[in-house]
Formats: sequence, structure tokens, C-alpha cells
Amino acid sequence: MKIFLYFEIMNPKICVVGSANIDQISYAQRVPLDGETVFGDSYQMGFGGKGANQAVMAGLLGADTYMIACLGTDVYRDMTIDNFKEKNVKTDFIQIVDGSSGVAPIWVDGNGQNRIIVISGANDQIDSKKAIKSLGEIGNVSLIVGQAEIPMEVNYEVFKFAKRNNITTIFNPAPGRLLDEQFLENVDWLIPNETEFEIISNTNLTKENILKYSNKINSKLIVTLGEEGAIFVNDDIIEEFKAPNVDVIDTTGAGDAFVGAFSFALSENYSVSDAINFAINKASLSVTKKGTQSSYSSSE
Ligand code: RIB
Repeated sequence: MKIFLYFEIMNPKICVVGSANIDQISYAQRVPLDGETVFGDSYQMGFGGKGANQAVMAGLLGADTYMIACLGTDVYRDMTIDNFKEKNVKTDFIQIVDGSSGVAPIWVDGNGQNRIIVISGANDQIDSKKAIKSLGEIGNVSLIVGQAEIPMEVNYEVFKFAKRNNITTIFNPAPGRLLDEQFLENVDWLIPNETEFEIISNTNLTKENILKYSNKINSKLIVTLGEEGAIFVNDDIIEEFKAPNVDVIDTTGAGDAFVGAFSFALSENYSVSDAINFAINKASLSVTKKGTQSSYSSSE
């Protein structure tokens, strides 16, 4: 008689608690001034939202990724869920609430720089108790990723839950806002971009200010710098990581590509330096293509 021993190999689980939007992107050589009308070059609609983008990047890279988010009862609901499934993101804990899903009108100029307005819609209805219940049902979560496009009260509760349960946390303070010290106690990795760093630290972006701010908090700090790469503060020492030179077409969602790829790399036990370089490469690649999630790829 043969005896089969059955071992279940558990992959690290990444849960993104955050926003999902429909991006409505207009491309024009230059964006209009006050009261001005300009002709654009093209328009495209696609899937976005900082939380969704980060989840999709991690999912495309092969991570066992769950999205906890709210969608409205509109035409965007089903297509957003189908998109998550196509991109290897689990949707069992997405809640449908009355009203519209989040949308984001975006302008991208001839240099690939973007300006974004987020209309939160359903993202504002995410509930902390339901989010925590979902995290409990998912079970064995190794990494929780959050951003500031959902009510901060939800982030506070979710990150407290993470700390109590020894789950590693990443917080991307986007859009930028001042952060409560108590909240930061539950954040293991804090990843702002240049402008978000200036808002959360209430200082200018200089290496000295990055060091000073990093000394004030317990979180490990990575500041992403667009085409300049990223800075990581490692035990009071600034480590600089360069980005490759690429042709910039559209920077929308590059920061999210960084956070999603970094989350994947951490959960795969890359060293911090390897994880940062990996994330910079994924973000750099994303700026060479139009769109948000449509510019992400699992390979190359
Ligand atoms: O970071 C880019 C994202 O910001 C877009 O996808 C848009 O939806 C907003 O959330």
C-alpha cells in the first residue's frame, strides 16, 4: 500500500487594502492654463487607483495577492473585477456599495508628467471592521499594503491589526498628508515620493531633511525620486539607488508600480537593495508606456 504524504506549500500572501478607480487619461502636448481650451493628442480609459495598481503589479509578478476595496453599483464594477482576476489578484473580499465607483480624470503632458484629480466615490465607503474581518478570513497574511486614497481611519485600524498579528506593513502616503505619530508606529516601511515626503515631513526635499525625518520615526524610509531613482535610509546612512535612463511617455502609476514590485520582492525575501533595484526597474519600465495598469508587465 502506498502512503501519500501531502504537504501544502504556503506562498506569502500580500493584501492590499485600498482604492480602485477608473482612470480617464487625456494626453496633450501641454495642459491648459486657467480659462484656456487646448486640443489633446489622445484619450484612454483604464484601470487605476493607487491600491488597485499596487495589487495588480504584485499580482502580475506572481504574488498571491488579495484586494480589499469597495466598488460602486455602476458599469465599472464588473469590468474592474474581471480586470483584477485577469491580473492574478483575488477579488473575494471586494465589497459592492451603493453609488459610483472611484474615478480619476488625468492629464498627461508632452513630457509624460501627470496631473490627477481623484473622485473617491465607493472608496470612501470602505469599512474598517469589514476589512479586518476579511484579513482574518484570508488568514496567514504576510504583508499588508496601504495608501491614503481611502479614509485614514480604516488605515489606522488595519495597521493596528497588522501590528497585533506580526504582519509586515507598507504604507504609501499618497496623496500626501500629515501622518499621526501613533499611526506610524504600526508602519514598517514608509514609501513616499518627493512631493509626498515634503508634505509628511513638512520640510523641503534634501538629504539632511530625509535623515532628520527618518530619525523621528520607527518606520524604515524609502523616498522615491522619479527618474533620479530612490533613497533608502539604512541605519542613519543614506543609500542612493539610480534609475535606468528611459524614454518617458507617461509617468502615471509609476510610484504604484514601485510599491507593488517592492511588496512582491519583500515577500519573496529579496535583500532590501535587491528589492529596491527591482522595484525601480519595474517603475522605470512603466513610464515607457501609456496608461496606468496597462503599462505594467510581469516580464523584462
Ligand atoms: O498613482 C496613480 C493613480 O492615482 C491613478 O491610477 C489614479 O486613479 C489615482 O489613484
